[in-house]
Amino acid sequence: MTRTLKHPLAHPLGLPDVHPGGGLPERVTIWEVGARDGLQNEPAVVDTAVKAEFLDRLAGAGLAVLEATGFVHPRWVPQLADAEELLALLAPRGGVRYPVLVPNERGLDRALGAGATEIAIFAAGTESFAARNLNRTLDEQFAMFDPVVGRARAEGLRVRGYVSMCWGDPWEGPVPVDQVVAVGRRLLDMGCGQLSLGDTIGVATPGHVESLIAAFVRAGIETSALAVHFHDTYGQALSNTLAALRSGVSCVDTSAGGLGGCPHAASATGNLATEDLVWMLDGLGVAHGVDLDALVRTSVWMAGQLGRPSASRVVRALTAAAG
Ligand code: HMG
Ligand code: MG
Repeated sequence: MTRTLKHPLAHPLGLPDVHPGGGLPERVTIWEVGARDGLQNEPAVVDTAVKAEFLDRLAGAGLAVLEATGFVHPRWVPQLADAEELLALLAPRGGVRYPVLVPNERGLDRALGAGATEIAIFAAGTESFAARNLNRTLDEQFAMFDPVVGRARAEGLRVRGYVSMCWGDPWEGPVPVDQVVAVGRRLLDMGCGQLSLGDTIGVATPGHVESLIAAFVRAGIETSALAVHFHDTYGQALSNTLAALRSGVSCVDTSAGGLGGCPHAASATGNLATEDLVWMLDGLGVAHGVDLDALVRTSVWMAGQLGRPSASRVVRALTAAAG
């Protein structure tokens, strides 16, 4: 197969050669967070119809898990104030899941009212981030999440639990591995079916990734219950992902085009770009179900909507010739 989008300098076929690596999963589930994590910091409010088209194009490119939005307080995240309207615009597509963030019972009421069938709660791994992101202490966050998870499970919803600042915190510095495992354990005991380990500020390095995953395994938590969520601030997200895959994790969070980051903090960046992960998985012969051409076209279209080029190196390489 030859890709239609290609940069002659990147590779004559626009495809990586396939050289399977050892110790990797056969298939990776990509949990696409572009519409939520990617857009939540955008200063200009993106039209709800544009968000819906973005999600629909991503689904068309083969992404089967699309974190669509968050039922958080609109004052805290104005960009996601249209969560109800957005869900109403999403055309059902067989096999595509649309999880949404929910912090509390008010958020759950709103999500259920809008027809959400899958939610994610988002815990902080540190006191400082619990205060800043949730207006709670570390302990109080569990009291807030507990009834959310209980009610959601009783309604038959799938529930994911995020843990943020797993590899470092901008106010506290290093975060003890045991502290992260303890937060994750509480979320699983509450009834979360999966944990997503967040490197919120992108400071993890591969050895640290391996040691945190090993600590979860030592605590009796299987890698099949874990996902990884790397922001790419220091350019480590793809290496960290490979380390996680080699440690047995097979669910990876990414954002199309590498969307995300805080426009007010120059060094903060978005998540690992979905295209960069797909290119690596193609080269490793690991299945993922995504059509890279369709995905790149979607990211180029979204970059046009936002008025700036995509941060993804693969998007740039595959489209530079056309530009
Ligand atoms: P609070 O101010 O403590 O809320 O915020 P409260 O419980 O005191 O309630 C105050 C008022 O807000 C009440 O209204 C509530 O009804 C209302 P009043 O009675 O005064 O009229 N309210 C709501 N309204 C709409 N929707 C709601 C809601 N909740 C309360 N859900 C709260 C606490 C958790 C709500 C707030 O801190 C919040 O919304 N935080 C969300 C922050 C956020 O979304 N951050 C980004 C996502 S996390 C992330 O990006 C990390 C991740 O990507 C992983 C990684 O990278 O590490 C997931
Ligand atoms: Mg994030």
